[in-house]
Amino acid sequence: MGHVTPPLSIPPPAGAAAHLPVLLEESLAALDVRPGGRYIDATLGGGGHAEAILEHSSPDGMLLALDRDGEAVDAARRRLGRFGSRLVALHRNFSRVEEAAREEGFPQVDGILFDLGFSSLQMDDPARGLSFRADAPLDMRLDRSEGITARQIVNSWSRDDLARLFRDLGEEPQARRIAAAILERRQKAPLETTGQLASLVAEAVGRSGGRIHPATRVFQALRMAVNGELEHLRRALPAATALLRAGGRLVVISFHSLEDRTVKEYIRAMTGRCSCPPHQPVCTCRPRAILSPVGKGTVKPSAEEVRRNRRSRSARLRAAVKLEVAA
Ligand SMILES: C[S@@+](CC[C@H](N)C(=O)[O-])C[C@H]1O[C@@H](n2cnc3c(N)ncnc32)[C@H](O)[C@@H]1O
Repeated sequence: MGHVTPPLSIPPPAGAAAHLPVLLEESLAALDVRPGGRYIDATLGGGGHAEAILEHSSPDGMLLALDRDGEAVDAARRRLGRFGSRLVALHRNFSRVEEAAREEGFPQVDGILFDLGFSSLQMDDPARGLSFRADAPLDMRLDRSEGITARQIVNSWSRDDLARLFRDLGEEPQARRIAAAILERRQKAPLETTGQLASLVAEAVGRSGGRIHPATRVFQALRMAVNGELEHLRRALPAATALLRAGGRLVVISFHSLEDRTVKEYIRAMTGRCSCPPHQPVCTCRPRAILSPVGKGTVKPSAEEVRRNRRSRSARLRAAVKLEVAA
């Protein structure tokens, strides 16, 4: 990866964290974590990345960590208690990262990490209804104090809207057929549980004999829609950039192609390329370079990491550095 510093040697996380941090060495290298630095972890989760950032920025580095899941914040705060006041952990959506940073005295930082999506702890918690592996109420909200549930979506959206959701966010080839099956089913009784939805999808599309469950893409689409993942990311990227000092790093790990595309397009737009229509003879958009990509394209997990942690297989890391000229 271009001018990323070489991977550091990372000790295994202390405590029994059931969530294995993905691309850990690569994230620390991309963030260029240094003693005394100030960092933001926008997605605290099980605290694996946070722990490594705090260790590598010791003795006096500071970390502001956010998560929209209040239970995750409480658990990570307890697990990382030994770092004392070097860790400030807040229950906050990362779309409000600027406000959080201002409140907590982090006006400029050396690096910001986003490790998007859901932790294994959340996916494996049957009460959240994020996965079809356990039968649970169709909820899927990471922050159960706000927003609509998956139950509301599947039982009230039109067939066209459901089909569009499964196609656009799930990349599900049989989106229309599944949407039609949902409408037929809910005329009899509303869908209430993850098990009911998973069986309905499996019946609608038939078991393909492939390695993934037929409902995987539908569940992925619903999780993203319920939690507004792309909208929050689109809001957070410019806010995060504004918080970086010149030379500071923006690092994003995505697990979904639409998230990765959003990050890629954002970084490209910030590199000062002209965005005028191709037929326009003179540039009028006056692009200003704010970010420069670190490395070429994405960093992917090694075969060894995928073997150790199957969940890492779709992870893609992109990084950018803030340029001097930016105010
Ligand atoms: C993949 S996990 C992060 C794991 C973490 N890096 C670790 O090492 O344990 C993603 C976390 O991001 C949180 N999250 C997702 N969207 C968020 C948002 N818009 N604002 C704040 N947190 C969010 C989830 O609740 C989840 O805990």
